[in-house]
Amino acid sequence: MHCDRLWTDAHLATMAGSEGLGIVERGVVAEDGGRIVYAGPAADVPSFEAADTIACEGRWITPGLIDCHTHLIHAGNRAHEFELRLAGASYEEIAGAGGGIVSTMRATRAASEEELVASALPRLDALIAEGVTTIEIKSGYGLETAAELAMLRAARKLGSGRAIRISTTFLGAHALPPEFAGEADRYISAVCEEMLPGIAAEGLADAVDAFCEGIGFTSAQVARVFAAAKAHGLPIKLHAEQLSNLHGAALAARHGALSADHLEHLDEPGIAAMAQSGTVATLLPGAFYFTRETRLPPVASLRAAGVPIAIATDCNPGTSPLTSLLLAMNMGATLFRLTVEECLLGVTRNAARALCLGHDVGTLEAGKRCDLAIWDVERPAELVYHMGFNPLHARIWSGQ
Ligand code: NIG
Ligand code: FE
Repeated sequence: MHCDRLWTDAHLATMAGSEGLGIVERGVVAEDGGRIVYAGPAADVPSFEAADTIACEGRWITPGLIDCHTHLIHAGNRAHEFELRLAGASYEEIAGAGGGIVSTMRATRAASEEELVASALPRLDALIAEGVTTIEIKSGYGLETAAELAMLRAARKLGSGRAIRISTTFLGAHALPPEFAGEADRYISAVCEEMLPGIAAEGLADAVDAFCEGIGFTSAQVARVFAAAKAHGLPIKLHAEQLSNLHGAALAARHGALSADHLEHLDEPGIAAMAQSGTVATLLPGAFYFTRETRLPPVASLRAAGVPIAIATDCNPGTSPLTSLLLAMNMGATLFRLTVEECLLGVTRNAARALCLGHDVGTLEAGKRCDLAIWDVERPAELVYHMGFNPLHARIWSGQ
């Protein structure tokens, strides 16, 4: 049988099957036309005529990593607000005083599409250098039609300049722009009736998200956004239960959300609803760390209920200026007490599911895209254990 490329003499963490990481000691991966045609034991490999064979010298291969929640496109930074928080101000106080998301909105509206692309590239490259092959990027710092469109177009453009798969999410309901002060319902109408139709018509969004929070939007407002997303055939996700419990996760689950994200204040009914709908719990330890949150997400209950858990960087200028998915895994283990398996499944198989890409990426299985990360490690736990050290040996995207 012909194949384009064969990786031999490797250990595989396939993330497939029902048993843990789907480990194959002494495995082989075969690729043809950008897809995996075999990933399994060397002993069972069909006889391939490979155009190219790469001996991995005992290294570990995982699926390419997936960062399933980022705000990678944004202008400026909020180092000054960081200083204010160090001096005692809270995230909510800063937002209430006209800073926070709205300060990044001002910078983002003032930037051109080219400037948005250029400022995001170094962040993207940092993630790519760690073996990330799929990334989600949200809008939500434009908060008006033209600027939201510019963010999403910039996100799509980023993907044409680098070997990476980009999934875009429209987050118009992220914060109330000042021109709508006191009129959140009217702003939600603009999100649903003006912004979303244009974005959907241009195919600029793969999903729709909102921020359900005291400093964001109420669950009734979020429900209107979900209904509009559904009318345009777009899947939904939600920033839920980050700073308080507005029962956003249960609402999202009732609407069949792909994921509910953050979740520090999630309660038992929310967990049960997520378990029933198969909604992924995307945990964001970078935001927990950076805002010095003390309330932990209910990991043990999520685990007991069988809710799939993903981990992401939440890369954003306000609460998580983090461009390391490896460090996010370390924080997930150290701060949230996730196991090594949970961390690794959380940036591969479950992250793919949170993006509705489970059929295409996230595991090493025949039929999936050949996105690989090849690591200089002796055991998969090392990928979670290091802090600020990158053991990536090679990264393959769609077979290249
Ligand atoms: O995921 N929670 C809302 N959105 C971002 C923060 C955005 C910002 O502060 O700029 C988050 O934490
Ligand atoms: Fe976020």
